[in-house]
Amino acid sequence: MPQLPIFIEVSGRSCVVVGGGDVAARKVDRLLRCGAAVTVIAPSLEHAQMRLWADSGRITVIAREFSATDLDTAWIAIAATDAAGVNEAVAAAADSRNVPVNVVDHPALCSFVVPSIVERLPVQIAVSTGGASPVLARLLRARLESIIPAAYGELAAMMADLRQRVRARLPDATVRRRFWEQILQGQVAELLFAGRRADAMQAIDAALAGSEGRMPTGEVYLVGAGPGDPDLLTFRALRLMQQADVVVYDRLVAPALVDLVRRDAERIYVGKARDQHTLPQEDINRLLVDLARAGKRVLRLKGGDPFIFGRGGEEIDTLAGEGIAFQVVPGITAAAGCAAYAGIPLTHRDYAQSVVFVTGHLHNEHLELNWQALIQPQQTVAVYMGVGALARLSEALIEHGMAPTMPAALVQQGTTPGQRVLVGSVATLPEIVAAAHISPPSLVIIGEVVRLHERLAWYPPKQAQATG
Ligand SMILES: C[S@@+](CC[C@H](N)C(=O)[O-])C[C@H]1O[C@@H](n2cnc3c(N)ncnc32)[C@H](O)[C@@H]1O
Repeated sequence: MPQLPIFIEVSGRSCVVVGGGDVAARKVDRLLRCGAAVTVIAPSLEHAQMRLWADSGRITVIAREFSATDLDTAWIAIAATDAAGVNEAVAAAADSRNVPVNVVDHPALCSFVVPSIVERLPVQIAVSTGGASPVLARLLRARLESIIPAAYGELAAMMADLRQRVRARLPDATVRRRFWEQILQGQVAELLFAGRRADAMQAIDAALAGSEGRMPTGEVYLVGAGPGDPDLLTFRALRLMQQADVVVYDRLVAPALVDLVRRDAERIYVGKARDQHTLPQEDINRLLVDLARAGKRVLRLKGGDPFIFGRGGEEIDTLAGEGIAFQVVPGITAAAGCAAYAGIPLTHRDYAQSVVFVTGHLHNEHLELNWQALIQPQQTVAVYMGVGALARLSEALIEHGMAPTMPAALVQQGTTPGQRVLVGSVATLPEIVAAAHISPPSLVIIGEVVRLHERLAWYPPKQAQATG
């Protein structure tokens, strides 16, 4: 039979814990945090924190063996000793007095279990496997921890504060439910998660002032999707991906990442297709404004980090100018992702104390870079969009004084199953790359740190690396 999940009030009630060790201390800690009046029964307290609680009067200690009458006035009892006989005696004494009892790790002796808890007070989520597997309960808890934003507690507290006001403003229960749904899944929650409590309160006021609690406008989430591996998304990115009404993405965002966007969200591709051109940047900026004005939650999904060679700054500049609410979620940029997955630390105590990110994108067929800055010793240079101009880049670096033997690598499709790492020197890399049929995107890393690749390469695990 399944157990009945309940939450029990223990504040000010007499809760008896039998045992003085680590496990007992964890149970006491939880009880104290719920305001229980805790009595610990144990011949000695082995746990330092228990002694501190006893000394400060936070718990009552009865320093002797357990006796059945200890439960005469107990509200609940927990047995946490490693003596089977004592645990059984506690269970029997509790049973005969109708006191709910938990015997740690002995489901057969328990009348209640203490579940794994995800805590976002006042919200608590309890996970139980009915005693089948505490390890599975802990795993589930860890998973929930990762998907439930830390600010959910604050959100719940704010809702509690607002309840009366909302009830007065929106007497109809259905309208009120819709209003709360909007609050929980929309702009207000996002503002709170982004730490903007005052703005969140303002948005609630605006929503309450509007007819039937409708939100005035949509908003834009400018989100970095990382370099390719979906596991490298941030928690916040994933959450926003699952609540957006529409996603605007381009070719650097891998299909596996787009698949994680809410199933029924509208998808707008603004990248290059075989017989299409990329939508001009101004048109993308405009599109974001128009979608938000139509009341949509717009996910602008970009490869890597939106503020690193991603034109994210321009997009939010337009939004700011138009008074559209937005937030920016950083992503793992290609240099960080490729370097990590290629086993090339961008800085290293022995080889590089600085790292420079540059673009190899040509302006009017020219590479306009600060060459002196790039040839500095003890420095790593990560070149984005550098494959097309690799030969010119290499020539110019050598011309300006970089040693032709300086190690250099190209990482193709870093962090994805298509990753390849080609290694050479700044002089030889262009030739190695030309012979290798590279598929975009690729990043070039130049510097002594590239030497470490041979020792530190780990991805893809247990497969031969394709090296040049
Ligand atoms: C327009 S930039 C965008 C950079 C992105 N905002 C970022 O932070 O990674 C595109 C360039 O990033 C690099 N890039 C992006 N993803 C990559 C990947 N998975 N592997 C190698 N290079 C990548 C390539 O150099 C590509 O030409």
